[in-house]
Amino acid sequence: MPSVQLKLTTTTAHGMVFRSWSKDNTATTDLGITCGSCVFYGATVGRDASYVQKLRKAGVIILGKSNLSEWGNIRSTNPGNFRKSNSSNGWSAVGGQTLGVYYPNQDPIGSSSGSGVATALGLAFAAIGIEVGGSIIGPAQRSNIIGIKPTVGLTSRDLVFISKRQGTVGPMARTLEDAASLLEIIGGKCPHDPETSKIPFEHIPKYARFCNKSALKGARIGIPRNAFRDNDEAAADEIDLAGIAKAASIMKDAGAEIIDPADYPEYETFLNESGALRGRVGFADWKADMARYVTNLVDNPQNINNIDDLVEFTQAHPKEEYPSRDVAGLLGVSKAMAQDVPRVEEAWERVRELAVRGGINGAMKKHNLDALIMPSSVSTSVATVALAPVITVPLGFYPENTGIVWNGRRNLVLQDKNLPFGLSFIGLPFTETKLIGYAYAFEQLTKVRDQVDPIVMPKTELRDVAGKDSGI
Ligand SMILES: *[C@@H]1O[C@H](CO)[C@@H](O)[C@H](O)[C@H]1NC(C)=O
Ligand SMILES: *[C@@H]1O[C@H](CO)[C@@H](O)[C@H](O)[C@H]1NC(C)=O
Ligand SMILES: *[C@@H]1O[C@H](CO)[C@@H](O)[C@H](O)[C@H]1NC(C)=O
Ligand SMILES: *[C@@H]1O[C@H](CO)[C@@H](O)[C@H](O)[C@H]1NC(C)=O
Repeated sequence: MPSVQLKLTTTTAHGMVFRSWSKDNTATTDLGITCGSCVFYGATVGRDASYVQKLRKAGVIILGKSNLSEWGNIRSTNPGNFRKSNSSNGWSAVGGQTLGVYYPNQDPIGSSSGSGVATALGLAFAAIGIEVGGSIIGPAQRSNIIGIKPTVGLTSRDLVFISKRQGTVGPMARTLEDAASLLEIIGGKCPHDPETSKIPFEHIPKYARFCNKSALKGARIGIPRNAFRDNDEAAADEIDLAGIAKAASIMKDAGAEIIDPADYPEYETFLNESGALRGRVGFADWKADMARYVTNLVDNPQNINNIDDLVEFTQAHPKEEYPSRDVAGLLGVSKAMAQDVPRVEEAWERVRELAVRGGINGAMKKHNLDALIMPSSVSTSVATVALAPVITVPLGFYPENTGIVWNGRRNLVLQDKNLPFGLSFIGLPFTETKLIGYAYAFEQLTKVRDQVDPIVMPKTELRDVAGKDSGI
């Protein structure tokens, strides 16, 4: 393991150095931004993204940018459907293929793949992930670490290439305390991101102080069992169900009241309608963000100004591996409507209604709940649209007799024995303090992360590369 393992605590956070990786769809002055694509290779921006400025001000050293699924998994067929996609999670033309560390050729899940793997191995103290639908929670669970997908608006998306409607920036770390400390640093209002004006408190909470071993005592936790199926490919399996049963019993013993089921009132309608509605909104947002983003570039060496330039460049550049990896997702973006037309606004209103009143808020109000729990693999679709926070905590590992499941491209293993999986805590917007308490108590009661080791370990010590005089 690397020799410097600094532990960040609330009392010493400011001015303390720790190591962090941040995902490469964030602009930084020293490292540029590529989103994994050769399109932005060598492109520069005039300043750091606001959350990066906060990290640096807090004394964080940014070690580098991690590999991501190119364009946050939107490049290829069926964006986000890992069993059908024509590209692969954690692959980008710039970075190559990131692998998970618990199984040979493990699918690291995406799109914050490198952030998950780097954290799992201790290459960095923690990392930043960026999520619209599962991009923090998915890779965090398969890297056996903590992932916090904050409420949309709690962290600034200034100079982050992501949907401004549904995207969020959050911490990935090996312990809940570390993740909470990092959230404390990056959270808060930002003049460059209007969504942050919705933060309902004056000062960002000291999140790490909510790491309370007794937090589950008296908490009302619901299980939205009717939402354990995301679509045909993503449904809770027997292992997930056994994991939920175990988790519920542990929480009950810790003094929580478990309400099971606490179903999403209109989940079937959400399943029926949300695919088309979310596609319409998501593609329109992506197109708009692309157009906005290029205006921030100081240098734009490939002279890419819109989505059609981007598609053309991707098809022509050999490192982009076209057509073996198609551009169906980008073509979807190219055909998208403008972001502000009524058909997009109507789609958003309808799907929001189903996810909020018909989903998380509906279930929580009906049963007077503090939080919900779900298997992490099916926990994000409603939460994405509800702009709600999700935290994943390691829950277990696939057992010996698990059959192998390949990804769509058949180059990575999605599922087999020893692969880690997580438990998600979901809550109402801006209730991170509660979720952090429950997730921490659960982490401390179970300590699942320590039960299985990665199949690879880094061999290089920081002092080997930093030199003898570095003081390390
Ligand atoms: C991306 O991952 C590959 C495979 O692990 C690695 O060789 C490469 O250095 C990584 N790239 C970056 C930019 O971290
Ligand atoms: C921890 O949680 C318990 C149970 O909710 C509560 O009684 C206690 O005051 C909390 N401790 C701290 C330090 O917040
Ligand atoms: C969802 O779609 C199925 C299949 O088309 C249909 O049978 C069912 O009634 C629909 N449910 C709702 C609540 O719309
Ligand atoms: C990906 O899709 C393209 C276009 O349909 C096809 O030419 C290519 O063979 C596919 N790649 C793989 C690995 O299936």
